[in-house]
Amino acid sequence: MAQIFVTRQIPRPGLELLEAAGHELTISEKDGVLTKEELVTALQEKEYEAVLCLLTDTIDGEVFDAAPKAKIFANYAVGYNNIDLEAAKERGVVITNTPGVLTETVAEYTVALILSVMHRIPEADWFTREGNYDGWAPELLLGNNIRGKKLGILGAGRIGQEVAKSLVNGFGMSVIYNDIKQNEAFESEVGAEFKELDEVFTEADVISVHVPLLESTKHLVSAERLALMKETAYIVNTSRGPVVDESALVEVLRAKKIRGAGLDVFEDEPALASGLIELRNVVLTPHIASATEDTRGKMSELAGQSIVDMLAGKTPEHVVE
Ligand code: GLV
Ligand code: GLV
Repeated sequence: MAQIFVTRQIPRPGLELLEAAGHELTISEKDGVLTKEELVTALQEKEYEAVLCLLTDTIDGEVFDAAPKAKIFANYAVGYNNIDLEAAKERGVVITNTPGVLTETVAEYTVALILSVMHRIPEADWFTREGNYDGWAPELLLGNNIRGKKLGILGAGRIGQEVAKSLVNGFGMSVIYNDIKQNEAFESEVGAEFKELDEVFTEADVISVHVPLLESTKHLVSAERLALMKETAYIVNTSRGPVVDESALVEVLRAKKIRGAGLDVFEDEPALASGLIELRNVVLTPHIASATEDTRGKMSELAGQSIVDMLAGKTPEHVVE
């Protein structure tokens, strides 16, 4: 039996796996993100052999040192930019994530965000609730069709590819993409065409961002690149906030240099860039792209299973390096 620390309450399935394997769980009772100090203090309380953490926890050398017996930090997320991998490596701590199980959910959500902004659904909902609807009108809340438009995928990983597949098969979009490597299987499956980064910005009608957050992808969507977009184009981000220069995006949206945007993630979340909430041509949601009952349960199972395996002396399936 090992002691395991869980940094916040998560759906039960993974916790049940851990309990069934005979481990003892301490789950933070705070209904919120632990501060660095709270996390370090909590970890020092017992000899934890494993930690289940969240994307909102900053995990660095100081945190690892607070739990010197912990062999594994299982991140309840596919993204792991919140973890200092170098510091983990130096200490021989294994880091795992939860890929695969959220791909389709995040892709579905991304499609929903694109539909929402292009058909102005949240804006129309507000319009109606506020009592403004006084009869059908030929030019009321005109949106734009997706069908036949050109989708620009930034980052053709699992999620980016799934978004492209859905929009090609469901809405007859054509696809251009940029990634650090060309992907021929993806190209032949959906007819995707590889483009230089700037060309994606110049040519796409809808840009969807699916790169991980790294030094090299911070502000990949910069003021300069936003300026390349068509005035009729849209951009959505369901990856990580800092990939987009959010203040620059506010500027182009305010000046109507592009038609609209959909954001599920923010550069300094939960804070929003100044001016963002006043804009009508952007749909804003609170980092919920993977938040379905099913998927959050499966993410819990994967994170729990990684710890069960590690403590049983097996290499977990989804180790990140
Ligand atoms: C969610 O943002 C994740 O990385 O799982
Ligand atoms: C994450 O699952 C990705 O590779 O897009």
